[in-house]
Amino acid sequence: MKQTWWKEGIVYQIYPRSFYDSNGDGIGDLQGILQKLDYLKELGVDILWLTPIYQSPNADYGYDISDYHAIMEEFGTMADFDELLAQVHQRDMKLIMDLVVNHTSDEHAWFVESRSSQDNPYRDYYIWHPGKAGKAPNNWASFFGGTAWDFDEASQEYYLHLFDVKQPDLNWENETVRQAVYTMMKWWLDKGIDGFRMDVINLISKVPGFPDGDVGEDANGDQLVLALPQFANGPRIHEFLHEMNREVMSKYDVMSVGEMPGVSVEDGLLYSDEARQELNMVFQFEHMRLDEAGVRRWSHRPWQLPELRGILSRWQTALQGKGWNSLYWTNHDQPRPISRFGNDTTYRVESGKLLATILMTLQGTPYIYQGEEIGMTNVVFEDIADYQDVATLNFYKEAKSQGMPQEEIMRFIYHRARDNSRTPVSWSAEAQGGFTSGTPWMRINPRYPEINAAQALADKNSIYYYYQALIRLRKSNPVWVYGTYQLLLEDHKQVWAYLRHWEGQTLFVLNNFSEASAECTLPADLPIDQAEWVIGNYEASDETLSADMKLQPYESRVYRWEGH
Ligand code: GLC
Ligand code: CA
Repeated sequence: MKQTWWKEGIVYQIYPRSFYDSNGDGIGDLQGILQKLDYLKELGVDILWLTPIYQSPNADYGYDISDYHAIMEEFGTMADFDELLAQVHQRDMKLIMDLVVNHTSDEHAWFVESRSSQDNPYRDYYIWHPGKAGKAPNNWASFFGGTAWDFDEASQEYYLHLFDVKQPDLNWENETVRQAVYTMMKWWLDKGIDGFRMDVINLISKVPGFPDGDVGEDANGDQLVLALPQFANGPRIHEFLHEMNREVMSKYDVMSVGEMPGVSVEDGLLYSDEARQELNMVFQFEHMRLDEAGVRRWSHRPWQLPELRGILSRWQTALQGKGWNSLYWTNHDQPRPISRFGNDTTYRVESGKLLATILMTLQGTPYIYQGEEIGMTNVVFEDIADYQDVATLNFYKEAKSQGMPQEEIMRFIYHRARDNSRTPVSWSAEAQGGFTSGTPWMRINPRYPEINAAQALADKNSIYYYYQALIRLRKSNPVWVYGTYQLLLEDHKQVWAYLRHWEGQTLFVLNNFSEASAECTLPADLPIDQAEWVIGNYEASDETLSADMKLQPYESRVYRWEGH
């Protein structure tokens, strides 16, 4: 297995709009990121991923790009970007950018041309269709609600948008489009960036002929269109990604991670298998769907440890020695993990540290999302006016019109809304959590007086310092990065325990993933008396390992020994 910086590094994801505002206009910006680089360096992360900072009308906050070569005005200038990149590199860190090429904004010059007439040379840059008997070409639904097709009155055809109506899908069947994307990628790589996180990249190859999606039922028995098979992991996807690798990525020492809804372990292996030269790793979604009821995104059901452990263990084992995992608990599209997988009241700090332990002790590249390192939580905003995400707002409107009770709508929003992780980072207990001196673009998490970075830095037992300690450990010994994964106590309802083996050394990780204390009996063949305590999240606990262990709520412990 190849040993390299993007396996050993720890990624920190920045959602710039909500990271830090340097000029008081209420919107985070590039100068704001510059001011916090030392904070990030101190945490120990080495790769920064910026969600899109390109020019955009912000229908989907930057994921609708109108110019790939310009910086969004609210975020700063290209000079600010160059300074940021230089300062990141000066601190021995790397910077990766979001690559959003499944679609552009409808305000991108290509689409403006494309929609101007049916015979415009750019027409074929996007996916146009005359429709069927005066109706949309098929039943595909947009990820953001409603149909995925919009009829363009002026040019009398439908165009496909898997996301917002302002995010038309590019036509990857068109070789000119592919070449234009590769040229743009090279422009950024030549500037010196260190790689790309590729937005919904497994959606770029659509099934020819655009067949209808199957109609399924959700948990309430409502009919839903299941179109994912018609555009996820499509017929030419591996060809396209291999081509991109050959023509662009392989020419630089850079990393790639593909965001991939609907990807199975088998697909994940194909995409990340080093021998196939497509991508370095993928973001899979199986553990993000654990608390969904059936197939409906806006729903909620309780999740169980065995399912979560089963999914992540399966990915650990399947990619072992061939591909590579990305490890994450959240991002700008997901709720805050302490609220989702842990306990955001009584055991906020303990469960935050347990999640950190697992993130840093599995095999793969860990991704920390801004605010995760200080244990930020979900929000409960009773007024829909405090929500900003188009997906949330569309759901609200649709659910209202279908007569779903307000309480139920809001309950789903509290659990699922992407807004949960998009509230501004709380830097201090000052007004607006120290995020801005003005009025924040989005309401701040009201828990900022208690949960903020200044508080975390002042408390030696904070989640922040626990992450820092784990990161240092991860960098101190390759067993943390490269060790193979072996699950123990497979049937335990509360405890997730595993070994990592690497060249004559072993790490042993023990987590009580529950808010009750837990007991477990360790397998008899573990060399228990040789185990050395490495780190844990309960200060005063007895550090010895014994055959019968009693763990406190959300307790995590890591041990090591020589030999396998
Ligand atoms: C990805 C992004 C998400 C965005 C969507 C469309 O899932 O992470 O934020 O809305 O793609 O670009
Ligand atoms: Ca600003």
